[in-house]
Amino acid sequence: MSHPPIPPQTPFKGVPLLHQLPKLPDLEGTDPATSPQDAFRLAIAHPLSETLGVPLKDVFLGVAPGGRDSDFKVVLPRFRLPTKVDQLQEKAIAEFQPNEYVTKISKQGPALLYHVNINTLTALTLSTIQAMTYGDGAYVDEDGKKRPSYGSNASGQGKKVLVEFSSPNIAKPFHAGHLRSTIIGAFLANLYEANGWKVYRLNYLGDWGKQFGLLALGWRRFGDEEKLKTDAVKHLYDVYVQINRLAEDGEDGEKIHEEARMFFKGMEDGKKENLLEWEKFRNISIEQYAKTYDRLNVHFDEYTGESKVSKQNLEKNLAKLRESSFTTREANGALLVDLTPYKLEKALLERKDGTPLYLTRDIVEAQQRWDNYNGFDKMIYVIASQQDLHTAQFFKILELMNVPFAQKDDNRLLLINFGMVQGMSTRKGTAVFLDHILNETKEHMHDVMKKNEAKYAQLEDPEYTADVVGMTAVKIQDMAGKRINNYTFDWNRMFSFEGDTGPYLQYNHVRLCSMQRNNAQDGLVLPIEDLDVSTMHTERLDAKEAIEIVWLLASWPEVVKTASRDHQASTVVTYCFKLTHAISSAWEKLIVKGQDRDDALVRLWLFRCAKDVLGSALRLLTITPLERM
Ligand code: ARG
Repeated sequence: MSHPPIPPQTPFKGVPLLHQLPKLPDLEGTDPATSPQDAFRLAIAHPLSETLGVPLKDVFLGVAPGGRDSDFKVVLPRFRLPTKVDQLQEKAIAEFQPNEYVTKISKQGPALLYHVNINTLTALTLSTIQAMTYGDGAYVDEDGKKRPSYGSNASGQGKKVLVEFSSPNIAKPFHAGHLRSTIIGAFLANLYEANGWKVYRLNYLGDWGKQFGLLALGWRRFGDEEKLKTDAVKHLYDVYVQINRLAEDGEDGEKIHEEARMFFKGMEDGKKENLLEWEKFRNISIEQYAKTYDRLNVHFDEYTGESKVSKQNLEKNLAKLRESSFTTREANGALLVDLTPYKLEKALLERKDGTPLYLTRDIVEAQQRWDNYNGFDKMIYVIASQQDLHTAQFFKILELMNVPFAQKDDNRLLLINFGMVQGMSTRKGTAVFLDHILNETKEHMHDVMKKNEAKYAQLEDPEYTADVVGMTAVKIQDMAGKRINNYTFDWNRMFSFEGDTGPYLQYNHVRLCSMQRNNAQDGLVLPIEDLDVSTMHTERLDAKEAIEIVWLLASWPEVVKTASRDHQASTVVTYCFKLTHAISSAWEKLIVKGQDRDDALVRLWLFRCAKDVLGSALRLLTITPLERM
């Protein structure tokens, strides 16, 4: 298992160093104990809020990290005060008192610049990371093992979210849309956990409908138990394709369709033998999916699906809908909902033969989840943007039906949509199944790795490595851009070790790991479990390359919060690239080998923290960071 950051069970009160620094005011939504950046922003906002007479929370929001030049910046006009900006600046400068957080204040245009005490920033950041990874700020597993917490926050404490993602259709292709939903959904679930929420992961399978009648008939003609055992997903698909072909023409075709309808009707009516057969297909498919998901570090708390929408609840809802003012009965008997007043077109809720639709099931399923999970604070649907209309329609209908969780300003239902992937065909043809895509990815990655013979020879388990790096390549390619953008699956670029790719991130993580190992061999071991900060010469990390890394490390908790607001994995991916670029630049400058021991140790510590945070960021993205490659 690969564990993303998660808040510790007992709230972390902060490292001893924090308590030696000037006391900070309490402010909701901030936590200096877990976020060094919050500490600095509060230290700046507190006196400034008194100077300006503006509430602390507003000033706090105005304190922005300036990055590189080790400054925080406050742009004064944002507070819309009647006093002239230069007068405000004079006043703030006159009232400013240097302290261990901030050494100096100056003007820049309409802004105030705060020059921080870099040693405080460095010592606080590195020791907070240490405590939240190896010390009393970590999350403790059932078996007593510590799991990294740095980057997490408790803002979602006591809140519950259901995340529905992946949701493929049994006996049908697992297409690029399902892959994206899987990648993005699994990330979002981790992200909510990192923000302190209780998360339930749901997979809503396409597992009901007449096609299962066809599949059952196909099985009788073309089914093969052996093939079902080796590759159920593909075999069921093949069977389905074959029977569909037979059903295409002539009288025989008509007969097959009629029989399939009968079979499905049997399922609907609860006929045991039909359901047993259907369930066998469903279970064996889920078993195979689960194995494949496992390779992606993805798991589900519940495999629900269209089949789980109960007949009784469908009936109850349809009865209610028939009575509603926003539905109409067509002459042919179909039930229609008119959503044109909301620019959401018209949609069918019940066919003329009385059967419900995909839309109807979603309406009912949402309510079942509300009941089954004893309510929720949020429910997220990760669905391709092709289904935007569908999703907007069922959200709207739930609202019109006055269900308790779909009220207008309640915002409990959230659609996370995404664009299309072009060109995801494989060398062997068109990839239609998840494990085939992943196998092809692994092979391709393996080929790329073999090209570096010397390195390849050192690999302990090339198969495993190729698999993990391959998964990383696919995921990073998918999550690097804004969700809504389409992108083209680029088999060559994503496997490159150069440029902003998954393999590049893994390579950096591995390099950081091997640095720790190599130095340990030379006798330079960081006592990471019980490291005494006061013995570490953090003030010696004064090169601009070191400071750049420290700033990035200090901002990680804020990145996690930002991502939870914008729901963009790219926020985290971009952070990973910034961090790895900074590490690359520091490599030549912050040499460890052969240095004075104090210098060497503190540099090693910085790189160690960088490794820990990069590892957490990758895990948050559902990626297993490799230690060797
Ligand atoms: N199975 C559907 C498809 O493949 C996706 C399901 C999306 N989720 C939902 N609640 N409708 O298109």
